[in-house]
Parts: sequence; structure tokens; C-alpha cells
Amino acid sequence: IVVDTFDYVVFGGTGDLARRKLLPALYHRDIDGQIPDGARIIGVSRRPQSNKAYRAEVQAALEAHLRREELDKKAVDKFLSRIHYVACDATTDTGWPDLVALLDEGKDRVRAFYLATGPDLFGPICEHIGRHGLVTENTRVVVEKPLGKNLKSARATNDAVGRVFPEDQIYRIDHYLGKETVQNLMALRFANALFEPLWNNAHIEHVQITVAESIGVEGRGDYYDTSGALRDMVQNHILQLLCLVAMEAPSSMDADAVRDEKLKVLKSLKPIGPHNVSHLTVRGQYRAGVNQSGTVPGYIDEITNKTSRTETFVAIKAEVSNWRWAGVPFYLRTGKRLANRVSEIVVAFREIPHSIFGDGEPIPANELVIRLQPDEGVKLWLQIKDPGPGGMRLKRVPLDMSFASAFKVRNPDAYERLLLDVIRGNATLFMRRDEVEAAWTWVDPILDAWAASEKAPKPYMAGSWGPDEARDLIRFDNPTREWHE
Ligand code: BG6
Repeated sequence: IVVDTFDYVVFGGTGDLARRKLLPALYHRDIDGQIPDGARIIGVSRRPQSNKAYRAEVQAALEAHLRREELDKKAVDKFLSRIHYVACDATTDTGWPDLVALLDEGKDRVRAFYLATGPDLFGPICEHIGRHGLVTENTRVVVEKPLGKNLKSARATNDAVGRVFPEDQIYRIDHYLGKETVQNLMALRFANALFEPLWNNAHIEHVQITVAESIGVEGRGDYYDTSGALRDMVQNHILQLLCLVAMEAPSSMDADAVRDEKLKVLKSLKPIGPHNVSHLTVRGQYRAGVNQSGTVPGYIDEITNKTSRTETFVAIKAEVSNWRWAGVPFYLRTGKRLANRVSEIVVAFREIPHSIFGDGEPIPANELVIRLQPDEGVKLWLQIKDPGPGGMRLKRVPLDMSFASAFKVRNPDAYERLLLDVIRGNATLFMRRDEVEAAWTWVDPILDAWAASEKAPKPYMAGSWGPDEARDLIRFDNPTREWHE
């Protein structure tokens, strides 16, 4: 479905995010025929250069980040014809009149400002946008993470953006919400009657959410070292996943209906602070080791600060204190340079109350494994009779749905959906201010307790599943409980 004609203004238009994600995503939407004639994509950055030179940069970005068979000459030329460039300084008036003049040519269009810059520029850019009269009724602003380093700075950023844009024109991106498999969580839970009656502490024993990466800090060491895994992954992506698993059914897919329910989950998270941080959290930092790409250096060798205590791994036992979930641990885990790249949610059901199959081995409980990436799919592990005349032998077998075999279509990148949702004015998959701040409210005391602690993060070998203490964390409540691997 073609959207309304728009001007997409990308601040940080020559940056990594624009080149790697935003421009390829818009190109894909273009070849799928969703971008209307006349729509413009305007790259903005400080360095003066011509449209022609920027178009060459965009072409190089497409070539670097898309597969050759996706690049059709005619389609690329058509896409490039939509591209414009304006040199603008976020902190002074330099260049802004040029942007004003260009945007004036499309006054009635939907106008989106995508701030793919560092968060310190969000305030100054918005201020200039406001001062130059660029906010129309149909204008939206998109902000990328990190939205703050803590509650205080998140509030300051939200205030700065909010001085120029009303809340319903602000789109806070969490790209996990645009992933097909993450959207599917809502379909799975609320388009099937089968799970809901079991989706509570009477039937679910625990939940695991893992977002494991095999990559290291990939040249982003300077940013990462001021962030760490808790801020980089848990405050946003993992808590959003937790919300989608734990929330009550919203009354509709309306943005506020969904966000109201997520907010309630965030506000129900049991606080973690100095009194319990050492029981409920484990932080780690990778050392040199061997993974799929061979021998890889340790974290400290990849960054400037040789005494850094920044965590590259975190495991947390979280709890949602409400009637549905009281007593059900949500084990959260994420890290860099782990054994594999895998993001998944495991819903572990309770064991059967009584076995009629004799005194043999205990019967493993059912598990619902929602694989977000890679090998996207859903597996429901069941007990089945192992066929044969040898009596009633049970075997654990999955009902197995793989996206790749069930749907023979390309899995679009998260940004493809999100970028056009902004134009459509659909904010369901974006975070509201109160959500971001509620997430920080839970995360801040953990950060403070870690900072106050004498202890350094636990070392773990690159290519492993993190420090041994993470295994102890999950076994603490039940010695037979393991992380899903
Ligand atoms: C980003 C983090 O938000 O998400 C990165 O800043 C991380 O550190 C990335 O690598 C993971 O995203 P994905 O889509 O590759 O799982």
C-alpha cells in the first residue's frame, strides 16, 4: 500500500545508521512500490557536498549493504532521484535556510525528521527545527536510542524534544519492535485462544529471554564503554520483549492501548537495588577467546580505557509483581562475543502434577520456544509416545513452525516497517515517553548498585555462554534449571 507523499529528512545522513539501515530499508520499500512519486529523502549532515556527491554515497551504501540481486539499475536510479542533500549544522544557523527552502516546496506533505545522530544533538536539532518554523501539523520526529544514560538524562532529552514536538508527533524507535518475529509475539498471544488460559503463574514456571550476540563492540567501543549491556540492550530491547510477553491483552492494536499495557508491566517490575543486586544480577566482561570467527581479542583490548568495568554481559532474574506473574522468574540474558547469535524467548510450563507412566525418569515439562533470530520460528515441545512395540516410552518432540519454510518470502528488516509506520502515523511499535522513563526507573538502581560495589564484572571467555555465575543464577531457584542453549 502506497503511503502519502513525504519528505524524509535524515539528520546524520552520512552516518553509519543511515548507510547501513535507513537507506537500504527505504530502497526496499521503494522497489516494493510503497513509496509514492515525488517523495523525497533528504540527507543532512555538516559537511558541504552536492546532491550528486551524496547520491554517489547513497549508491555506495546500497551496494555495500544489499545483495547484488536486490540491486536493479533502474530501481537504484529511481531511488537515487529521490535523494537530496543539505549541509546543516545542528548547533548553529548554518545551512538551515537551505533546508527551509527545500521543505517549503512540499509544505503539505507528511514531513519526518529522523535524528540518526548522537543524543546530545537531539535537543539542538529540535530547537532549530522549531525556530525555523519547520513543524507542520503533518510533521513527525523520530529519535534513536540511546534515549538517555539514566532517568535524569532521558527526561532532559524528552523535555528538549517535547519543547518542539507534541508527544503524538514523537516516534521513539526501538528497532526490536519492528522485527517480524517480535510483532508475531502479539499475533501468537492474542490471535490464538490456546495460550491465554495457561499464560500465568499457575501454569508457567519461568520465562527466559536471551539476546546473545557473537560480535564484539565492532568499532563502537567509545560509545559502548560509556553504555554497557544493561543500557545498550536491557533498558530498551529486552524490557520491550518482556512487556510483550507479560502484558495483559490490550483492547486493540491502537498505539496507546498497547503502550498503556506495556507501561503497567514496566511499573510492576520488582525493584532491584543495593539489597538484592548481588543475588539477582550477574555482569560479565569478555576476555580473548575463540569463536566462529577464530581467535578474538578481549574487550579491554578493543577499547581505550584499560581499566574499564563496563559490562559486556548481563544476566538478571526479574519479576513482574502482579497477580498474573507473581513468583514467576523472568531470566534475562544478553551479551557480546557469546557462543552464538541467538535471540529467543522460552516459556517454560510447569510439570504435570502426576505421572501415570511409572516411576521412571521425571517427565520434562512443555516449553514454548519463540526464536526471534536467526532461524526464526516457534517450537512447542511436547511429550509424544516413541513409536514401536517396546511399551510406553516417551519422547520430547517439537511442534515446529519455521518462518522460512512456512512463508517463502523475504523477511523485511525491522526498519522497513518502522520507517513507513512513521509516515502512516502509526505509533503502536514506538515507545511512549512514560515507557522509556519507567524502564530507566527500574534500571537506574541496578546501575547505581553496581557502581557502588567493589566488585568488577566477572570475566568470561569470548565464544562461551558468559560467566559461570549466570548458570548459578538460574540454578539458584532450582538446581535442574538451565539456560536454553
Ligand atoms: C543495538 C545495540 O541497539 O542492537 C547493539 O546498540 C546491538 O549493540 C544491536 O548489536 C543488536 O541488534 P540486532 O538487530 O542485530 O539484534
